[in-house]
Amino acid sequence: MKKFKIASIPGDGIGTEVVPAATAVLKTVSEIHGGLSFEFTEFPYSCEYYLEHGVMMPEDGLERLKDFDSIFLGAVGNSKLVSDHTSLWGLLIKIRREFEQQINIRPAKVLRGIKSPLVNPKDFDLIVVRENSEGEYSEVGGRILRGEDEISIQNNIFSRKGTERAMRYAFDLASKRNKHVTSATKSNGIVHTMPFWDEVFNDVATDYADIQTDSQHIDALAAFFVTRPNKFDVIVASNLFGDILTDIGAAIMGSVGIAPAANINVNGKYPSMFEPVHGSAPDIIGKGIANPIGQIWTAKMMLDHMGEEEIGTVLLDVVESVTNDGIVTPDIGGKHTTTEVTEEIISRLKARA
Ligand code: NAD
Ligand code: IPM
Ligand code: MN
Repeated sequence: MKKFKIASIPGDGIGTEVVPAATAVLKTVSEIHGGLSFEFTEFPYSCEYYLEHGVMMPEDGLERLKDFDSIFLGAVGNSKLVSDHTSLWGLLIKIRREFEQQINIRPAKVLRGIKSPLVNPKDFDLIVVRENSEGEYSEVGGRILRGEDEISIQNNIFSRKGTERAMRYAFDLASKRNKHVTSATKSNGIVHTMPFWDEVFNDVATDYADIQTDSQHIDALAAFFVTRPNKFDVIVASNLFGDILTDIGAAIMGSVGIAPAANINVNGKYPSMFEPVHGSAPDIIGKGIANPIGQIWTAKMMLDHMGEEEIGTVLLDVVESVTNDGIVTPDIGGKHTTTEVTEEIISRLKARA
């Protein structure tokens, strides 16, 4: 019997609705799969935790998380209680950075029965590999001067190591897929870091003779995601470019509520963290209509990462059988609740046992 220890952090807003839903699904997965079990330990780290303790997580929070096989997170952010700057640097970004989760993998493809807003979506199936630890999200900068001369700066940091790591990850992934990598760049003269990004991309590409490549400026690429997403396989992008592209990827699938993501610790020293692309969705908190599929598909990515691809594939197939029958939440045109969608997935999983 394989036993996985999972640290669960529902976090804020709809994180507290979709994490229990996906956890119930994972428990069913272990019931139907005799050789697999999960031990979940829940951590209450969130903006409410901050109000009580003055910190997003205790001083030894990372120590408490570090021996788990994976971290399963919902969303962080409730700007009515705590500024996003404080909550994100204090929890989400802290875990990504300290646990060296330098790669963020974000797939986007059409699920059966979910209508894309695109007129002609064709069958796209792409993965954005987002550099997850540096770039535009650097810690160097801040507000300087005050008064009418006030300015705020943030230096972009692109290390050769970090850039190359993301690119190699993308090429390795493409080797197992359709053998094409697109680089998201902006090297047409303005952004100083991007000619460097291109240079590293070209250097790495020479090691992968069988992989086709192209480079697209991020603005044009954003448009291509809308006009011809089926032309892409793997896209490698910097932290901010990848962030923006993956919300577009989510939107063309039908909703940000279904898009999954995985923050990967590549060197295996720390747990990886699995959290969907979407945030805490303050506009729908407590309505019972949060789409649980982003979190459930994210659970599938966690299963894949822990070596359980077979059952992960069954899980996504069951999700698609449910979406194909129109049992979906309002964000994708349905009238069902979070609970109804989740229960349907659970009962169809049991039927597969
Ligand atoms: P958001 O993703 O929370 O919401 C954007 C829109 O998508 C909203 O209309 C929302 O209702 C909808 N939506 C999101 N998830 C949904 C779901 N599962 N089902 C149905 N509809 C869904 O983005 P935002 O409004 O920019 O951010 C809200 C808060 O979340 C902020 O505090 C932000 O910093 C935080 N955030 C956190 C994460 C994370 O923890 N990974 C990611 C993005 C945003
Ligand atoms: C995401 C989010 C985060 C990011 C924010 C909340 C810091 O938008 O995971 O996509 O930009 O990485
Ligand atoms: Mn984002």
